Amino acid sequence: MTAESITVRCSAKINLYLDVIRRRDDGYHDIETVFQPVTLFDIIRIEPAAGSITLTGDDPGISWDSSNLCWKAADLILGEDGEGRGVSISVRKSIPAGAGLGGGSSDAAGVLTGVNELFGLGIDGPRMMKTALEIGSDVPFFLFGSPAIGRGRGELLEKINGLDAGTILIVKPDINISTRWAFQNPNLILTRSGGGHRLNRLLGGLRGFPDIALETSNSLQEVVVGEYPEVGRILVLLEREGARLSSLSGSGSACFALYEDDTTALRVRDLMLGEGHSAWIVYPAGRALELLERE
Ligand code: C5P
Repeated sequence: MTAESITVRCSAKINLYLDVIRRRDDGYHDIETVFQPVTLFDIIRIEPAAGSITLTGDDPGISWDSSNLCWKAADLILGEDGEGRGVSISVRKSIPAGAGLGGGSSDAAGVLTGVNELFGLGIDGPRMMKTALEIGSDVPFFLFGSPAIGRGRGELLEKINGLDAGTILIVKPDINISTRWAFQNPNLILTRSGGGHRLNRLLGGLRGFPDIALETSNSLQEVVVGEYPEVGRILVLLEREGARLSSLSGSGSACFALYEDDTTALRVRDLMLGEGHSAWIVYPAGRALELLERE
C-alpha cells in the first residue's frame, strides 16, 4: 500500500582502510576497503507525485537535477516496477559533497529503500543491490548498512563488527576532489594483491580498540596529497595531535582521526576550525540507513 511520505536518515561513511589492487578491463579498480558508517546524517523525505521526479535540496552547491544520484536512484527504481509513478524528493544535507564521505551514495541508497517502501514495490535484496551498483560503487554498501569489508568495486561486502567505541573527528578543507580523477591518476600505485596481513591487523586492532594500536593505509592518499598539499598538512597535524588512527577517507578531501574519547577530539577540532577547515565530531554508527517516519 502506498504511504503518504517516507523519511529516511542516511549516514556518512569513512574508509578505515583502502587498498587499490588492480585496474580492471571495465575501467574500474578492484579495491579492498573497510567501510564504517558514522553519525553524520542527511535526511530525505519522499512523497508520491504524479508521473515524474522532482528533487530539491538545501545545499546550493549541489546540482538538484537529473545528474544527482538521488534522481538516478529514483529513475532506476521507478523503472523497475513503478511504471507510471512519480516522486517528489527533498534532501536536507549535512554530509559535505566531494569529501569522500559517501554523501551522494548514501542519499541514493536512501531513495532506493524509501521508494521501495513508499509504494510497497517489494523489490528484493539482490535486485536492489544490482540497481545500487548501477548508480555507483559505494551505493551497495549503504544498502548493506553495517560496517563491512568491501571488495571488487566495493560491492562484494563482508559484514564485520567495525568500531563500536571512540570519537571520530572529520576534517575537510575547502577542496572538492573527484573520485574519478584520483583513481585515473597515472601516479596511483597499485598494490597488485589484497592487503591480507595489514587488513587483518587493522581488524584485530578494531576489535581491541582502544587497547590495541591501530595502523592503516589508503592507496589514494599519495596522489591526493601530491595535488592538494593542504590535505597533507591536515594529515600531519592529526597524526601529531594524538590520534589513535588517522587517514584520508575515500578519495578525500575529508580526513578523519580516531580518539579514545571526546577530550582530545574537541581540542583538535577547535585547532582545525581555527585553520579555516570544516570539522565534525561524530561516532561510529551500527547502521547506515534508518527509516525515520512513514505517514
Ligand atoms: O562508481 P562511481 O561512479 O562512484 O566511481 C567514480 C569513478 O571512480 C569511476 O568512474 C572510476 O573512475 C573510479 N572508480 C574506480 N574503481 C572503483 C570505484 C571507483 O576506478 N572501485
